[in-house]
Amino acid sequence: MAQLSTNAKAMVSAVVNNADNKSTWTTSWHGAGAAEFDLRSDTMTKPTPLMLEAICQTTLLDDVFNEDPVTNEFQEHVAEITKHEASLLVLSGTMGNQVAIRSHLAQPPHSVLCDYRSHIICYEAGGVSAWTGATVQTVTPKNGVYLTLEDVKKHAVLDDDIHHCPTKLISLENTLGGTIMPLAEAKRIVEWAHSNDIKVHLDGARLWEAVVAGAGSLPEYTSLFDSVSLCFSKGLGAPMGSIIVGSKDFIKKARWFRKSIGGGARQTGVIAAAAWVALDVTFGTDPNGQTGKLAATHEKAKRVADLWTNRGGKLEHPVDTNMVWLDLEASGVGPNDLAEIGKEKGLQLLGGRVVIHYQVSDEAISRLEQVFDAALKGDFKRSEDTSKPYGSR
Ligand SMILES: Cc1ncc(COP(=O)(O)O)c(C=O)c1O
Repeated sequence: MAQLSTNAKAMVSAVVNNADNKSTWTTSWHGAGAAEFDLRSDTMTKPTPLMLEAICQTTLLDDVFNEDPVTNEFQEHVAEITKHEASLLVLSGTMGNQVAIRSHLAQPPHSVLCDYRSHIICYEAGGVSAWTGATVQTVTPKNGVYLTLEDVKKHAVLDDDIHHCPTKLISLENTLGGTIMPLAEAKRIVEWAHSNDIKVHLDGARLWEAVVAGAGSLPEYTSLFDSVSLCFSKGLGAPMGSIIVGSKDFIKKARWFRKSIGGGARQTGVIAAAAWVALDVTFGTDPNGQTGKLAATHEKAKRVADLWTNRGGKLEHPVDTNMVWLDLEASGVGPNDLAEIGKEKGLQLLGGRVVIHYQVSDEAISRLEQVFDAALKGDFKRSEDTSKPYGSR
């Protein structure tokens, strides 16, 4: 094992570059395990021996007191690569979004504008209304894919008519359900918002994917926004942890709100160390994520889409990144059929969304092919259960 280093960046590089030295780790950390066959979400990854090694070598001081070196260095590193003044490690993507949104807002009357499918409004347990008292204006993109400035202008409230609720924050999401919001459109929206004294937050839990797909570099996207939340435990594969980036004043306030919701954790070096390995190994050390492992997941996702459409299946959306949305209804397949057939093949599936993460194996894809065969040939008895498939997004 490499020497414990007081320099976190050097420690992480030593761990990553010394990958042949893992025989001492318990076997439960080796291999993808069940994650190999789990296509429900890119949260379903298994932490790696490299992450464990970084955890073993991390610093273990108190982050509520701001004293943990690895956490502090990691926060500085992420601020630097995203071209922001500061950053704050949080426990989850939901915590990142909610703390960021709360930190931007003062008090009602105020409203937050977002896409109607946004995670912040559909899957965060009503946090925005609970923490901020804001009205949420959900907008349906006219192009069916991503919000444009025209959508935003049509719904934003700029006046001070007492019947209305002024828009104080726009919250965008990229990728949203695996689809990309182009950099140029994000720029138009942010420029317009700023000229109208509106802040813009980006839920960038999966921004990594848009970057790797070539939509723009990490700093090109992140530097546009007043705040961005980024997740290490989605496609990147860390066991936990997200981060928010923004100005020093914003992060100071966010630290306060993070504490108020119980997010002030103590020996966070264990989170930061594993997250740093995930960032360097899975996304890569370059601003375009071309040295990491995500690009291969996009190719696999396209392969899955082809396997489906070649058998006559229909898609809900084109495949931009690592998610494939199968249009089950248009393809004559019941909502839970794939999950049921998948079970017989040892695959975990959820509704019509297939998500590829870097630990999904070729064997999983060939089993998926068999699932598609069974579902689309029509000799599978459609499942009686038509309840809406539910799951972590
Ligand atoms: C776009 C997006 N934002 C935020 C989150 C929340 O992350 P977490 O599950 O870590 O709270 C998710 C979760 O999948 C997500 O997909």
